Amino acid sequence: MSEILPTVFECLTASELKQRLRLPLIAAPMFKVSSPELVTAVCRAGAIGAFPSINARTPALFDAWMARLGEALSEALPDGSRPAPPAVNLLTHDSNPRFEPDFEIVRKWRAPVVITSVGKPEIVIDAVHGYGGLVFADVVSLHHARRAARSGVDGMVLLCAGAGGQTGRLNPMAFVEAVRQFYDGILIVAGGITRGYQLRAIELMGADVAYCGTRFIVTPESSAPEEHKAAIIGAEIDDVWDSDAMSGIPASMLRSSLEKLGLTPETRWLQEKRDKYDWSAVKETPGVFSLGHGAGDVAKEEAAASIIARMTDEYRQAAAR
Ligand SMILES: Cc1cc2nc3c(=O)[nH]c(=O)nc-3n(C[C@H](O)[C@H](O)[C@H](O)COP(=O)(O)O)c2cc1C
Repeated sequence: MSEILPTVFECLTASELKQRLRLPLIAAPMFKVSSPELVTAVCRAGAIGAFPSINARTPALFDAWMARLGEALSEALPDGSRPAPPAVNLLTHDSNPRFEPDFEIVRKWRAPVVITSVGKPEIVIDAVHGYGGLVFADVVSLHHARRAARSGVDGMVLLCAGAGGQTGRLNPMAFVEAVRQFYDGILIVAGGITRGYQLRAIELMGADVAYCGTRFIVTPESSAPEEHKAAIIGAEIDDVWDSDAMSGIPASMLRSSLEKLGLTPETRWLQEKRDKYDWSAVKETPGVFSLGHGAGDVAKEEAAASIIARMTDEYRQAAAR
């Protein structure tokens, strides 16, 4: 497993990466949703496609997915340009038994971008920088952002109010402004983003890239179950609650699925006797769907490339205004 492969993925500097993207967008990593097909479609449409390593059921399957992505993304686009690079999401929390084996595969393939969530970005930085890759860490508070900045990350994902999955509660305008006071790396904004003109708004606020999850759940390339897709199509913003009950940290959930379990946004734990973050609760609970505020703007299933083409038009029109 520790064998180092000849370069399959191209590693880029932060400024080369920004130049490579046709649209300043990352299709965010989503548990049980992001598939190799989705990542390939997004990268070939000119944005970063991200996926959690644990979406592959075993480390061996994750290794095979990296091989598939390497092949699919080595082919030039019809206009001769290169696809955007993929990003691997590693859950760097102690409760993730897959961290070590998956990190070994990340190093073996020299994943160009590694996104750390719920934990300590510092445990991957030296190794990823050593092979030329970039590390982005997700953060929900100024305290987290300061810690990530000190650890030397290349970028931060600011999880703002209304993000799907584990969410922040801060306002994006205030959060970007506060982090920009001490950090000049890549700033990525997450939470309720579904439109190209919002990407332009993010740039005008002083950030660089948008992180967009919920919109990409309802694509033919996503591996989300049909019930999840239908729930998103049927939901409005008021149907999204954020609750600590699943894992001990706030996550945006479909109100009706929480109600089925007798939960309210104030419920602290899904099961008794838990007193610290426990990600396994998220894995174990079937029929409970996560979605962000952007669900209100998702009316139908749409191919990833078509979403990105539409967002690119909206982004260009906004930039020209
Ligand atoms: C169903 C679902 C699963 C998610 N799983 C993960 C995950 O495994 N790792 C992670 O870092 N973020 C995860 N997220 C969060 C997304 O990466 C991203 O922060 C979020 O979707 C952005 O907000 P938006 O959904 O409003 O666009 C998940 C989000 C959703 C909706």
